[in-house]
Amino acid sequence: MELTRLKGFQDLIGAQVEAVATVEQHARRLMERYAVAEIRIPLLERVELYQHSTGETSDVVTKQMYTFSDRDEEGTTLALRPEGTPGVVRAYIEAGLDRSEPEQRFFYSGPMFRRERPQKGRYRQFQQFGVEIFGRADAAADAELLMMVDDLRRELGLELDFEVNSLGCQQCRPQFRAALLQWGRSHLDQLCRDCHERLERNPLRLLDCKIDVELTKSAPHSLDYLCEECRRHFDLFGRLLSSAGVRFTINPQIVRGLDYYVRTTFEVYSRQVGAQSAVMAGGRYDGLVASLGGAPIPGTGFAIGVDRLALALQASGLPRPALVKVALLTLGEAALERAVAIARDLRNSAPPRPLQVEVLSPGRSLKSQLKRANNLGFHFALIIGDNELARGVVMLRDLERSTQHEVSIDALPAALDGAAL
Ligand code: HAM
Repeated sequence: MELTRLKGFQDLIGAQVEAVATVEQHARRLMERYAVAEIRIPLLERVELYQHSTGETSDVVTKQMYTFSDRDEEGTTLALRPEGTPGVVRAYIEAGLDRSEPEQRFFYSGPMFRRERPQKGRYRQFQQFGVEIFGRADAAADAELLMMVDDLRRELGLELDFEVNSLGCQQCRPQFRAALLQWGRSHLDQLCRDCHERLERNPLRLLDCKIDVELTKSAPHSLDYLCEECRRHFDLFGRLLSSAGVRFTINPQIVRGLDYYVRTTFEVYSRQVGAQSAVMAGGRYDGLVASLGGAPIPGTGFAIGVDRLALALQASGLPRPALVKVALLTLGEAALERAVAIARDLRNSAPPRPLQVEVLSPGRSLKSQLKRANNLGFHFALIIGDNELARGVVMLRDLERSTQHEVSIDALPAALDGAAL
């Protein structure tokens, strides 16, 4: 038996985990500023939850879920969550919030599972950071979602392309669907095999076929079929984005692969991550809460593909950490003993910029400790020997500039912060 990781699953180590954690940390901080509260939901749910929400016609439900039967409850099939939205909606209803306090803003962060064909940026376990807003039917809620992603983009120093569309509502969608069906039937001989199936199950999906790209450009667009209410919603959405300085383009092909969307849909792309370039996607799902047994409460949300955004971040360079990294180098046992105490004091001190402090493994020559400190990317080394200890000082070495001077132990960490400026 070969004990290697499964196909499509990843171990994140070093720079990879740093990039993923950076995305998550920035996104979490952003949530505080937008008054979005965290929600934690299970990884396992009954399979019916996804069948009734993500949808019987979606690839996710028909082909990609990891399901198994539960030994405790006969006849129950469980699924590893392929996305977060259905679980959040279920939790919202189960907590009675749809009736007691319908306006809610949640975020979640964690792994999702889809049995997809693995490639760069497409994994069978991947991380999503999602936001769901309940009880807001207005276009401002949709626009704020994209403002969040634009703020995150700016903080991470990334260039991303925002594309938006509207799929219409229960009133106007049927006319669009009928027009698309008619178009599909009249182009049957030119459509790929998958599209033949899509045509019957869910003609909207014709528009995100990756094979018939050129052909579908001539297909009917939902925007031409919007009712007055949907048109007004979409126009206001666009105006709010423009006045907030969020740059976007309208792409009538954004139909989304999941079944619950109405009106607003959007996707955000990075040009730095290869073929799997959608780093975030989402939209409005006004009928979903009711269809899962709750009150008729509107909802809208998005999910960021954290692994993909992390790839973009790695390609463009991680933002420089605000941390000042300090290594303690010791010569002798007495120095080690003192260094451990100094390191703890430094970690607990509160200089303007936080310190990251590590006592390097002792017993090696000063030269080899310096080499290691350089390799690990430390900014400063504090060198502690018997001679320094006797005088209550340490040698503060700037590893980037290769300069050094003595400082009194009592004057740390102010000396470090001053030197780091
Ligand atoms: P989704 O488009 O299926 O939407 O996924 C959202 C994002 O998750 C994608 O844009 C992509 O970045 C990432 N993603 C999806 N599949 C994979 C994969 N196999 N490997 C790596 N990354 C992946 C949803 O999941 C909806 N729940 C979004 C939403 C929230 N809509 C409303 N609220």
